[in-house]
Amino acid sequence: MKIKNICCLGAGYVGGPTMSVIALKCPEIKVTVVDLNQVRIAAWNDEDLDNLPVYEPGLAEVIREARGRNLFFSTDVESAIDAADMIFIAVNTPTKTYGEGKGMAADLKFVELCARQIAQIAKNDKIIVEKSTLPVRTAETLQTILDRTGNGVKFEVLSNPEFLAEGTAINDLFNADRVLIGGNQTESGQRAIQSLVDIYAHWLSPKQILTTNVWSSELSKLTANAFLAQRISSINALSALCEATEADVDEVANAIGTDSRIGSKFLKASVGFGGSCFQKDILNLVYLCRYFNLPEVANYWEQVIILNDYQKYRFAKNIITTLFNTVSGKKIAFLGWAFKKDTNDTRESAAIYVAEHLIEDGADIHIYDPKVSESKIMADMRYLWELKGLTEQRITSKLKQIFVYQSPMEALDQAHAIAVLTEWDEFKSYDWEEIYQNMYQPAFVFDGRNILDDEKLKEIGFEIKGIGKVN
Ligand code: NAD
Ligand code: UGA
Repeated sequence: MKIKNICCLGAGYVGGPTMSVIALKCPEIKVTVVDLNQVRIAAWNDEDLDNLPVYEPGLAEVIREARGRNLFFSTDVESAIDAADMIFIAVNTPTKTYGEGKGMAADLKFVELCARQIAQIAKNDKIIVEKSTLPVRTAETLQTILDRTGNGVKFEVLSNPEFLAEGTAINDLFNADRVLIGGNQTESGQRAIQSLVDIYAHWLSPKQILTTNVWSSELSKLTANAFLAQRISSINALSALCEATEADVDEVANAIGTDSRIGSKFLKASVGFGGSCFQKDILNLVYLCRYFNLPEVANYWEQVIILNDYQKYRFAKNIITTLFNTVSGKKIAFLGWAFKKDTNDTRESAAIYVAEHLIEDGADIHIYDPKVSESKIMADMRYLWELKGLTEQRITSKLKQIFVYQSPMEALDQAHAIAVLTEWDEFKSYDWEEIYQNMYQPAFVFDGRNILDDEKLKEIGFEIKGIGKVN
């Protein structure tokens, strides 16, 4: 079946960029990205491309070319579903915050709502593509809901998980290591797979497009994220040992990474991984393992999260101990709030948890991030504290310990210590002499990303502490 009309439910960090690239590369296909969130859709349609809701290098250029040609953003979900031959579901699948599986399982209510809505509206056969990250065997649930419509429409469910990383999304989509498509092993299942293969074949070679059964595809996505996060927790675990033994974690990472069996990527020690997916997907994997009565497997993967929490806590604790065992009333400047550079996304950013710990000890946190707004930072902290059940009074009082700036120099002025939370390139080229002059002495820098030139900073007079090294 030749696809002429695509609809995508969910215009977030995945739906927006993936559909923009499909539209760019397949000009003969009409692509409509819909969302319930009107503000988000308005931002996708904004004339000023600086106002797009997702910041990704290269995204604005793609939007400029495709939007209005064959790429459309809309809140009219019903019409888009009705017109589409193929529907991608790219809605959020957060960790459940209530009831059965709270804090572990993926909350599939948004996905289920999509399936019900599609079933209600569809008047002709459609291919449904799981783009969201889902627990293995979700396709079965979707198929059950879709098949109960009773209006004779046939649905073929495919799994096509997304592997892009934020900050490099457009490059990852243009030059994907692989695209994974899982489908039913029936004749119609294979036909559906081929329809989606044909779309990606507009710009990827056949060897980059892997096809599997549905369950392998669903499980591979959780597995890929678990393996990636496990590497970070492994190197972060060793960073603690490096600090105790005067080994240097960057040297160790380089030494082991040059073994081609290990490989050099994803071995950068840090203040801890963040982002909307690693933690959520591993928790989901752990939940699944427990559900299938595999406690040893569950405990193995859970350790990746435990270690990551330890790393964030260790970083905050190190700041407190180094600042003579208290940060009460002290100004701690944060460089960076996003969970990694080149994105405005702050979900599960290590900065949130480090800030929480320091605020608990009485610190004032003064933040500068080139892409994150004050309202976002305040909302992140409020959300965390609300989740923990703090009273409104306590939350309001704690929020008064947070200050956000438009310029780095203001954030750093008269600070007792600086903590680097995100690896934004611009932090490296600041005038560190001037910063030093305007700080309390001794002037401490805690480089949670090991990006600063520690020799140069020491020469200036800073006391610098990186991750996994004795500076
Ligand atoms: P997001 O929160 O940025 O976007 C999801 C969007 O879906 C929201 O704008 C929401 O309003 C919308 N939505 C919810 N229900 C809807 C409905 N019924 N109809 C229309 N729109 C609806 O989430 P995201 O980061 O884009 O992630 C989406 C999925 O992709 C998740 O499962 C995630 O695990 C997965 N994923 C994310 C990334 C990433 O880098 N963020 C990478 C790979 C996979
Ligand atoms: C990650 C995966 O890399 C993507 O393949 C996947 O599609 C995506 O999750 C998802 O499913 O959402 P993302 O979270 O956007 O992508 O970004 P990463 O580059 O993986 O970084 C995640 C976190 O790990 C960041 O906080 C980053 O700073 C940290 N990190 C990464 C390290 O601390 N060390 C490293 O060596 C690499």
